[in-house]
Amino acid sequence: MIADKERLPEHIGFIMDGNGRWAVKRGLPRKMGHREGAKAFRKIARYCKTIGIKYITFYAFSTENWRRPEDEVDEIMRLFGEYLDEVKDFEKDKTRLIFIGDKSAFRDDLRVRMEEIEKSSSVYDEMTLMIAMNYGGRDEIVRAARAAAEMAVNREIKPSDIDEKLFSGLLYTGGIPDADLIIRPSGEKRISNFLIWQSAYSELYFTDVLWPDFSPDELDKAINDYASRSRRFGGV
Ligand code: FPP
Repeated sequence: MIADKERLPEHIGFIMDGNGRWAVKRGLPRKMGHREGAKAFRKIARYCKTIGIKYITFYAFSTENWRRPEDEVDEIMRLFGEYLDEVKDFEKDKTRLIFIGDKSAFRDDLRVRMEEIEKSSSVYDEMTLMIAMNYGGRDEIVRAARAAAEMAVNREIKPSDIDEKLFSGLLYTGGIPDADLIIRPSGEKRISNFLIWQSAYSELYFTDVLWPDFSPDELDKAINDYASRSRRFGGV
């Protein structure tokens, strides 16, 4: 149960970690862990909508994840494609979808589908769901730096116009508020290149629960913990 509905985070980031270990613990192939992880993703996204979280970001595939065995990468792409086919759900839920990361690396059908969904769901504003696919925080910052440099070379801006506001507008998450809370299950305690600019003042929450077991109750615990913290943003 959420103790204080007045102190909900506006934007929560989820690092969906522990799928492989969940499967191995049960003597199953790792890809079964991703299947369960995809179910947990749907359940948590739906629950966030119910409790009134405005922005959620899920780290589904990093720029480094291509190094995994081919059948594992194929399974993650299959699960992702399956989710993209559930477009009626986003419409029913009035949810805006944004895919952050470099889309150019994806199969044409997936890329086109992502672009179509972003366009058709852009009319909704009850909740914004971001899925980080082929995403890397450093890569995102380098791209924004390049875009700012190009604007300066084209004389659209002066180098001195580049400030935090302009720069953050050039990130994949341009226009979206920074993450208030970042949750990483599975016992690892690091950010792993996820929303590194946007997490400058995020509260971090770690739990040993593996992502496929991460339930609405676990999320309530994280939100209650968040609500008990005092956020000072460098002040006193
Ligand atoms: C990390 O666990 C998880 C991933 C790299 C993939 C996450 C993908 C999904 C949940 C499914 C596809 C996405 C959507 C949006 C439907 P891990 O494999 O690193 O776990 P381990 O640390 O236990 O090995």
